[in-house]
Amino acid sequence: MAQIEGGDSLDPGMLMPILKTSAFGVEYHYEQETASTNAALRTLADNGAPEGTLVLAESQSGGRGRRGRSWISPAGGIWLSLLLRPALSPPQAPLQTLLAAVALTETLRREEGIAAAIKWPNDLLWQEKKIAGILTEMKGTMGHLDYLIVGVGINANFPAACLPDSLRDNATTLREILHGPVDRRRLLASFLHAWEKHYYFALREGYAKALHLWRSYNMTLGRDVRLQSGERQVTGRALDIDDEGRLIVETAPGRRETFLAGEVTLQKGWQYESPKGDCIHDG
Ligand code: BTN
Repeated sequence: MAQIEGGDSLDPGMLMPILKTSAFGVEYHYEQETASTNAALRTLADNGAPEGTLVLAESQSGGRGRRGRSWISPAGGIWLSLLLRPALSPPQAPLQTLLAAVALTETLRREEGIAAAIKWPNDLLWQEKKIAGILTEMKGTMGHLDYLIVGVGINANFPAACLPDSLRDNATTLREILHGPVDRRRLLASFLHAWEKHYYFALREGYAKALHLWRSYNMTLGRDVRLQSGERQVTGRALDIDDEGRLIVETAPGRRETFLAGEVTLQKGWQYESPKGDCIHDG
């Protein structure tokens, strides 16, 4: 296992001095390697860990992705899970994932000049290639949410050649985009700060601002998509998201259907337009 040391380490001694949050990451569990940070955090959550508890590992041996897939997690990435205990009902949980995607996109654009965009529901892409993913797991009953574990994986500082052949065409890393390493420590501290800010704002004021930002950062709406939702596969035009973050698709002329979860494939033949902004990296 590669040890991450010195300048690029995310160990608490390096991270804490630059962390500007009041809760996110204040309780910080750092590992060189773990099976899955989501799994590690679940144990802590069941033992009463407070909101904002962060688990981060330099590499994962059993990283988990959405839809039961595995998540390749070599040293150099940023693999983390954050514990949230919002007073929400379980159907509102997807909004929390959306919030994390908004905060990370904002951070990559503002701090790193990377023109990241969101593919519904919460994949981060750069020029159609995946650079980060989010896996939210929850514990609760029908009406009550006990806690949420939001797991975020960022393909940061490893070569794209570390990705398996099957992913190489559809995924990349920040290091490839920037032609050099990203400052993982600064990126992590900025992301946690942005995420905390959006989180407490949304709990106080509602999710309208986050939904607005999601729309402005997204690369799904207005496009022809193929959507695998459970056993069902549909094609159509992605029109919008509703107030709970569900995707509205026109599946036939005049027929709109709403989807809570699923896997979107963006149909080709559509030109990605770089978002306008003052710090866009032109790759
Ligand atoms: C996806 O499939 O797009 C979601 C990937 C989420 C990966 C992250 S890495 C940190 C956390 N721990 C895990 O086992 N998975 C998430």
